[in-house]
Amino acid sequence: MKKELHFFSQLVEKLIQNEEFNPVSRPIENHDVIEQLNLEFNDEGINEQDWEKLIETVALHTPKTASKLFFNQLYGGRQPKAILGDLLAVILNNSMYTYKVAGPQAGIEKVILNKVCELIDYPTTANGTIAPGGSMSNFMALVMARDSAVKSTPNLGVSHKMTLYTSKESHYSIPKNAAFAGIGRDQVRFIRTNEKGEMDIHHLNEAIEYDKNQGFTPFFVNATAGTTVLGAFDNIEAIHKICKKHQLWLHVDGAYCGGVIFSKRYKSLVKGIEHSDSFSFNAHKMLGTPLTCSIIVTRDKSHLFKSFNNEADYLYQTDDDDFDLGKTSLQCGRRNDALKFWTLWKSIGNIGLEKLVNQQFYLAEVARKYIENHPDYTLYSFENSISICFNYKDIPANKICTLLYEEAQAMVGFGSFKSEEFIRLITINANNSEEDILHFFKVLEKGVKKLELVSVL
Ligand SMILES: Cc1ncc(COP(=O)(O)O)c(C=O)c1O
Repeated sequence: MKKELHFFSQLVEKLIQNEEFNPVSRPIENHDVIEQLNLEFNDEGINEQDWEKLIETVALHTPKTASKLFFNQLYGGRQPKAILGDLLAVILNNSMYTYKVAGPQAGIEKVILNKVCELIDYPTTANGTIAPGGSMSNFMALVMARDSAVKSTPNLGVSHKMTLYTSKESHYSIPKNAAFAGIGRDQVRFIRTNEKGEMDIHHLNEAIEYDKNQGFTPFFVNATAGTTVLGAFDNIEAIHKICKKHQLWLHVDGAYCGGVIFSKRYKSLVKGIEHSDSFSFNAHKMLGTPLTCSIIVTRDKSHLFKSFNNEADYLYQTDDDDFDLGKTSLQCGRRNDALKFWTLWKSIGNIGLEKLVNQQFYLAEVARKYIENHPDYTLYSFENSISICFNYKDIPANKICTLLYEEAQAMVGFGSFKSEEFIRLITINANNSEEDILHFFKVLEKGVKKLELVSVL
């Protein structure tokens, strides 16, 4: 492998240099990409030199998600210590189902899960697992809630007309998961939100009572810690009171912003988290770990066993359940997503993770202030959000975002809330500085000027 590793390290150096000067890759028309980059296979393989050249070309044309002008997604940037951990996980190539095969890697995953449970003040009965993404963490929560509400479900299937509750601003994985779990999309009640995009508690209570009177079995409420568009935080304490009154499972979907549990300053945004039945967050979002690293914990680990354990004599042959992590996970063969988070966390400590989170809120403040001080801009977002939503000069948001993308100037997306469409700038790359954020606005203004000139002609 020496040759490949040498090629790899040279390629990475080239990529990082290229990223400095060309922070945005020029997009290739999707219909042309296979032919233009020679992606198809042939009977014969290609020679070494052509293979290396091809890999380099493909890499250089791939969107640059770690560059200083990437604000398009709810992740971005690069944490070197986490990257090293992920590369090592690939080389080691352990599957996380048994202690026999994972060894210390299982210990690493357990340490992460224990510490997360401790951080959110869950009781000692708590535990968790690492799922293949935030959508799947939400799925696991839903399945545990379903099986806990009607105990016969894992064996007999869904027998009741079960209903679940989530805000209109929550992630689309909730209705999708309802379909997967046999509950059905039509049994999802989308609760209204206030002007900040937070769940309307009165509507939640009304909806649950209405369903009970209609003979449904309400069982699950999903609260969001950082809604996908606005980055809003639902009021967990208030939602908990309603869940307690009606005896419903409370899940907190913190895929986007659940990382605030690492910050003394911002942890109050998830006040009441200790009352939840399950909580998930993506370390590959706020905590800068490479995709994917989604952690789900539940206050009573027996739910994980009841919903996800299955006997398999050919697999579980040594050790006990506590270290055979496959007994509480969604998959059988499972990638090691723990190591990359651990290598980062060990290196920078709790304080380092806290700094990452705080920096994202600081950058958001920089962006909000800039927008507020410039009359050509309209701001739609609020304090305590790292999604900065705005419009510029009444030009449609999608027009500006598409222009910046097609001209390889910046990657930024658009979203909407209560019929307003706007640009959504995500300040999640903690490696960025105030200057980088201000530079983005200059790039946008220059791009728009060009657009205005073209439309005059
Ligand atoms: C609030 C929320 N929940 C869940 C998800 C899904 O996470 P993943 O993309 O890891 O499946 C997202 C993704 O952006 C999200 O914003």
